[in-house]
Amino acid sequence: MRIFSGIQPTGRKHLGNYIGAIRQYVHLQDEGDPAIYCVVDLHATTIAYEPAELRRQLYDTTAILLASGLDPARCILFRQSDIPQHTELTWMLAATATAHGDLNRMTQFKEKSAVQRELVSAGLFFYPVLMAADILAYGTDLVPVGDDQRQHLELAREIASKFNSRFSDTFIVPEGRIPDVGARIMDLQNPDKKMSTTASTEAGTIFVLDEPKAIEKKIKSAVTDSGSEVRRGEGKAGISNLIEILAVVKGVSMERIETEFADSRYGDFKTAVAQAVVEYLAPVQAKYAELRDDEAELEAILADGAAKASAIAAPIVAAARDKMGLGRPVA
Ligand code: TYM
Repeated sequence: MRIFSGIQPTGRKHLGNYIGAIRQYVHLQDEGDPAIYCVVDLHATTIAYEPAELRRQLYDTTAILLASGLDPARCILFRQSDIPQHTELTWMLAATATAHGDLNRMTQFKEKSAVQRELVSAGLFFYPVLMAADILAYGTDLVPVGDDQRQHLELAREIASKFNSRFSDTFIVPEGRIPDVGARIMDLQNPDKKMSTTASTEAGTIFVLDEPKAIEKKIKSAVTDSGSEVRRGEGKAGISNLIEILAVVKGVSMERIETEFADSRYGDFKTAVAQAVVEYLAPVQAKYAELRDDEAELEAILADGAAKASAIAAPIVAAARDKMGLGRPVA
């Protein structure tokens, strides 16, 4: 089973990214044949950014992935812009298998374009086609992502099917893998909105590299409700989110958390969540501190990953190009 997923090197990675996605990448690395993980710097250029900052954040994200447990000996970890087939295939899919109307329906485009101050780029509109190209270029069977990528994944499947029916079977139609618990971690200050780098509040977002004190403060001031019971339910989005976080972090069911804290006050419950999250992230933070400064080593890992990625993507994209009638005919 071939596994592929991508993560943006924008902003600071938060607990939603960690729980919804990175945790799955690590679990799945031995199940993939191979498991391929891509730091998607081309996607990051679709909103305002600064080039030197992008490079810095690419290293930050790569080091976080390694610190979380990705092992370059057991998976392929590479940088998207190192492999030209991603951009090439984007055009091929956009021109022949992507409906403009489908891109127009993408909710992330609507959300992101609404907050862009200077330029709503055509690249932002094309973002889901680039994501489809990432996935399809590797003959991917399974794509681990959080809930917010559901619509993009559905479009990638649609694009693969359209291309296949027009040019004969070329691409595998991939399946998504969205975790049952932790697929949509919410903003602690605004629990009706997902935790996110761009849209959520600083106080409501726990970053993977936050100091223990900051984590405690954010969780203790998380918005709850006027009730007093630690259980999920109507009007209890804040407490439900904390229950979900604690369940994932402790590796138990949400029911178990509700039973365990049935007699607790919100304050005590929050203290327990804060302590558990601090302990959960501590080993990642320690490992990150060891790895981050050796940029030459990070580059060496990415170069090795790119060589392996290229060997997979090049023949798949070449076959698609040939079927489209482009380039010199393949004998
Ligand atoms: P990005 O970098 O925004 O997010 C990385 C992963 O984190 C998940 N995620 C969350 N999970 C749970 N709760 C949250 N609040 C939360 N916020 C984010 C995302 O679902 C994602 O899995 N478009 C992708 C990057 C991408 C990609 C790909 C993914 C590019 N090409 C190919 C899969 C396959 C993205 O926005 O990632």
